[in-house]
Amino acid sequence: MRRRIEPLGADAVSRDAWKGRDVISILDFSRSELESLFEAANEFVGPPKPRKNLADYIVATAFFEPSTRTRLSFTTAALRLGAKVIDLSPDVSSILKGESLHDTTMMLEGYSDLIVMRHPSEGAALLAAELSSVPVVNGGDGSQHHPSQAMLDLFTVRRLKGRIDGLTYTVLGDNRYARSAASFLYGLTKFKPKMVYVVSPESLRPRDEIIKQLKGLGLRFEQRSDLEQVIGGTDVLYLTRIQKERFPDPNEYEKVKGSYKLTKDVLARGKSGMIVLHPLPRSTELPYDVDSAKSAAYMTQAHLGVPLRMALLLKVLGGGRA
Ligand code: NCD
Repeated sequence: MRRRIEPLGADAVSRDAWKGRDVISILDFSRSELESLFEAANEFVGPPKPRKNLADYIVATAFFEPSTRTRLSFTTAALRLGAKVIDLSPDVSSILKGESLHDTTMMLEGYSDLIVMRHPSEGAALLAAELSSVPVVNGGDGSQHHPSQAMLDLFTVRRLKGRIDGLTYTVLGDNRYARSAASFLYGLTKFKPKMVYVVSPESLRPRDEIIKQLKGLGLRFEQRSDLEQVIGGTDVLYLTRIQKERFPDPNEYEKVKGSYKLTKDVLARGKSGMIVLHPLPRSTELPYDVDSAKSAAYMTQAHLGVPLRMALLLKVLGGGRA
């Protein structure tokens, strides 16, 4: 929000101070703030009850990139809490006439109490947050951050495995461009995983800035190129699709497409009790026949997006307890 810009990556705040905060990166939140979010989200899991906590609020969604889960689960979360939702729909707005991100943001701050924004450019949500007098939640900015996804992913681990600490995580796939993978790894820096394996084809290894950030925050991780080496010791397997749309050169995508896949055979070699997460949408890396495996947790993960985002909206808008 305007006049209250927290430096990206700062983690100095240990108190639970959610109200009015922009949600730009998971790095901006402390472990105790995340834990208090998960506690609040737990209250919303299960059959929905009519609630009016946010009856006086209007939430704006502004998605400049395609989205199924993030946009609709934020919308459902807002509606379940009694808020109203306005949607920008860039393809039928004045953005087609050349309206700037600056001017769009200035309109949304006047029409709503919170803006959820997704944009193909890194830093777009941060810019909107600096301009806006209402909080901005980053629904994904280019290949950089996707904080509510990472919060949801950690919440899913906590619910299904009972804890986040002490587990072995394998993050498999497009670790170069997938903001969900980077954000999940950033989220893990707030906890004490036993081990983190980052498994990717050579050309999809994390960007230097991500590696530097993770090392600086003391995350113990190893880079590998073969899932089979590590799957036997993995408690949480986090898989992403190749982010075709982010490749600067289509030839580079052609070289790597279809280069990894989670088959039932590979899965059979997994540790018992392992869970498989995927932010979705899927491509060829996650065949449909994996859905019937006991470890497949990605549909549950997607559904938990509603309670997690209900808790997030309530915390940021300060709409009181459930
Ligand atoms: C992800 C995204 O948009 O970053 N999807 C999501 O929000 N659930 C992952 C992806 O597009 O691959």
